[in-house]
Amino acid sequence: MALTETQVIDALRLVQDPELGKDVVTLGMIKELKVQDGQVALTLELTTPACPVREEFEETVRQTVTQIPGVTSVNLNVTAQVRGRLASGETLLPGVRNVVAIASGKGGVGKSTVSVNLAIALRKLGATVGLMDADIYGPNVPLMMGVEGGQPDTIDGKLIPLENYGVKLMSMGFFIPEGQAVVWRGPMIHGAIQQMLRDVEWGELDYLLIDLPPGTGDASLSLAQLVPMTGCVIVLTPSEVALQDGAKSIAMFNKLNVPILGMVENMSYLLHPDLKEPLDVFGRGASRKVATKYSIEFLGEIPLDPAVRIGGDDGVPVVTGTPEGLPAKAFTQIAQRLAGKISVENLNRNETIPINMFAAPKG
Ligand SMILES: Nc1ncnc2c1ncn2[C@@H]1O[C@H](COP(=O)(O)OP(=O)(O)OP(=O)(O)O)[C@@H](O)[C@H]1O
Ligand SMILES: [Mg+2]
Repeated sequence: MALTETQVIDALRLVQDPELGKDVVTLGMIKELKVQDGQVALTLELTTPACPVREEFEETVRQTVTQIPGVTSVNLNVTAQVRGRLASGETLLPGVRNVVAIASGKGGVGKSTVSVNLAIALRKLGATVGLMDADIYGPNVPLMMGVEGGQPDTIDGKLIPLENYGVKLMSMGFFIPEGQAVVWRGPMIHGAIQQMLRDVEWGELDYLLIDLPPGTGDASLSLAQLVPMTGCVIVLTPSEVALQDGAKSIAMFNKLNVPILGMVENMSYLLHPDLKEPLDVFGRGASRKVATKYSIEFLGEIPLDPAVRIGGDDGVPVVTGTPEGLPAKAFTQIAQRLAGKISVENLNRNETIPINMFAAPKG
């Protein structure tokens, strides 16, 4: 009897997405399936190009199809389509699939550093990415992304983001003359954040990361009111004060009903060329304990390393400047885990995902 598409689908119903915990057919990940004379062609559409388990997953699907009796060849194409919570037309950001804020209770723990490196890492993994600097008090993104002094153009009344390392960028820093301070009042902060969302031509993005100012302040509140966020990432250093302030951020985002996607421990430990073992400066691992206590996913540790600071100061973040170094690898792994967690979060929210098994290719 000739091999049928139904046989292939039935076999694939036994393949679970390792992260999403459901089978690839139910998740609508199998596209453009063709079966002819034992030859099978199909597309596996991942929920993010930054999928942390891409290779194993691809191999499992290939093996599963290969082992169906009657299959003579398998042509497996792997693509990715990031899913999001923002339905077009309902929001200030119609083309943006996921808005993710990077937050901390305490200042100076590395939010901006984490934001720029995660943005570039996600881009390098194949996603479309924007980065909005919501730190109106001390906007550092222009410097760290190497676009200081840049001026966004306006087309048809919309601001065009600057771009570097493939990441679209917007910051209040582009509008404040260097060395000048602006005294912000609450309503002005709300207005500034609204403008950076509404009046900027962000276009289609898989992920828009937002670098927040420190603390539990107005910017976070405005953001939560203005856009449906997929969630936030909390950056901690393992010192006791940072942990206490981290607990406050957790409480605030819970109050605002913003899911906490994960926690990152920055300046976790120091690698010194003269030392055999990593040096524990602040209390490595303390953030992981906080994450466990609050049932928050721990996304990873970033070492304290002068290369990280130099990369930021020079406008060439380590993920792009020294990609072979340990900090860059740590950031990349965190970006993959975050992308995976975003997929899970979106799946949990939209329990039913349309299964358009034989949908025509896009574009
Ligand atoms: N892992 C690291 N190793 C070395 N230096 C780091 C590391 N992470 C951040 N830094 C440096 O620490 C300083 C503070 O980092 P950053 O500006 O990213 O923190 P922040 O949380 O955004 O601060 P703020 O609260 O002021 O916005 C910067 O000079 C940065 O380069
Ligand atoms: Mg900052």
